[in-house]
Amino acid sequence: MGTQIRAQSNCNSNYAEAVENITKLITKRHLILPLRNDFVFKVTGFHAKQQKLLKTLHSFTDSVIISRRDELLKNINNNEPNERNNLINILLQSSIDGKPLSNLDIREEVDTFMFAGHDTVSSAISFALYNLAKHPAIQQKVFEEMKFVFEGDKRRPHALKDLNELHYLDLVLKESLRMLPSVPFIGRKLKKDTIVNGKLLPNGANVVIAPLLMGINPHIWDEPRSFKPERFESHNVTNLSPFAYLPFSAGPRNCIGQKYAMLEMKSLISKMLMNFEISLESGFQLKVKPEIVLKPSSGIKLRLKERLYAS
Ligand code: HEM
Repeated sequence: MGTQIRAQSNCNSNYAEAVENITKLITKRHLILPLRNDFVFKVTGFHAKQQKLLKTLHSFTDSVIISRRDELLKNINNNEPNERNNLINILLQSSIDGKPLSNLDIREEVDTFMFAGHDTVSSAISFALYNLAKHPAIQQKVFEEMKFVFEGDKRRPHALKDLNELHYLDLVLKESLRMLPSVPFIGRKLKKDTIVNGKLLPNGANVVIAPLLMGINPHIWDEPRSFKPERFESHNVTNLSPFAYLPFSAGPRNCIGQKYAMLEMKSLISKMLMNFEISLESGFQLKVKPEIVLKPSSGIKLRLKERLYAS
């Protein structure tokens, strides 16, 4: 978005905190059935809390959009070129049927991207590091591949071309997303009566698709509880249905950011593994909490040992 929120160094980022709290609230509303009723939701005070959180989220995005729009107008008045180097600038200069997008139109897109694009990636990175720490032989293989691609140079910037060459890391990330998908459940509302496995699901029904359970389904995967990146080698997935593996969903509303997400993960993990050997703190047992985004219940306790090699 071309904006820094420094959520990592500023623990009190209102925006990051509001995202976390609204996610918890939405999950609570899903899981505690009476809260699904609007009246109950209102009288319990959760609605007021939700409105307060939405105000924090929207005022942040609104302020960024307004200041960008002002900047663009200033450039137009001064005959200076406008950059199209980030999503907000592109949206501000876009139109549908000749009509420019309103601030509200842009906010809806920006909010979706902001939400869909940050927690998902950080969870996936955390779980991938967990899996690499748990399987030292696989970590070593990933490291060997990186060392080859980056020619043993820890400091070399990671170019797109390099990341595309990290083929084994790609398999590792896919396998990690199979067992621990960032989006554990996907919801759909049926638009017509649908027969699934001989059962009628009526028009209008809300359906939950669970990548979290599909990933460990023994009817789909051989030894589903074993971490085996090789299962994603192209010759091993020829018979896999395109709807059997859904960490990025499927169909017209699937994840628009999946390629970008894979690159982001590869970029961060390769920086980390080129510099450190990682292992799990002794006795660490992973527990997960399936909120909107799947997260470790109490972090992932990793140990880092600096890698010493000529670079
Ligand atoms: C590992 C990382 C990610 C995972 C596992 C993931 C997963 C998903 C899934 C499962 C959906 C579909 C939800 C549904 O079908 O209802 C989705 C939608 C979406 N994702 Fe991602 N995502 C990731 C990263 C990203 C990133 C980095 C971006 C943006 C840069 C992004 C942007 C979006 C958007 C905009 C949608 C909504 C698409 C639509 O409704 O048409 N995602 N994502």
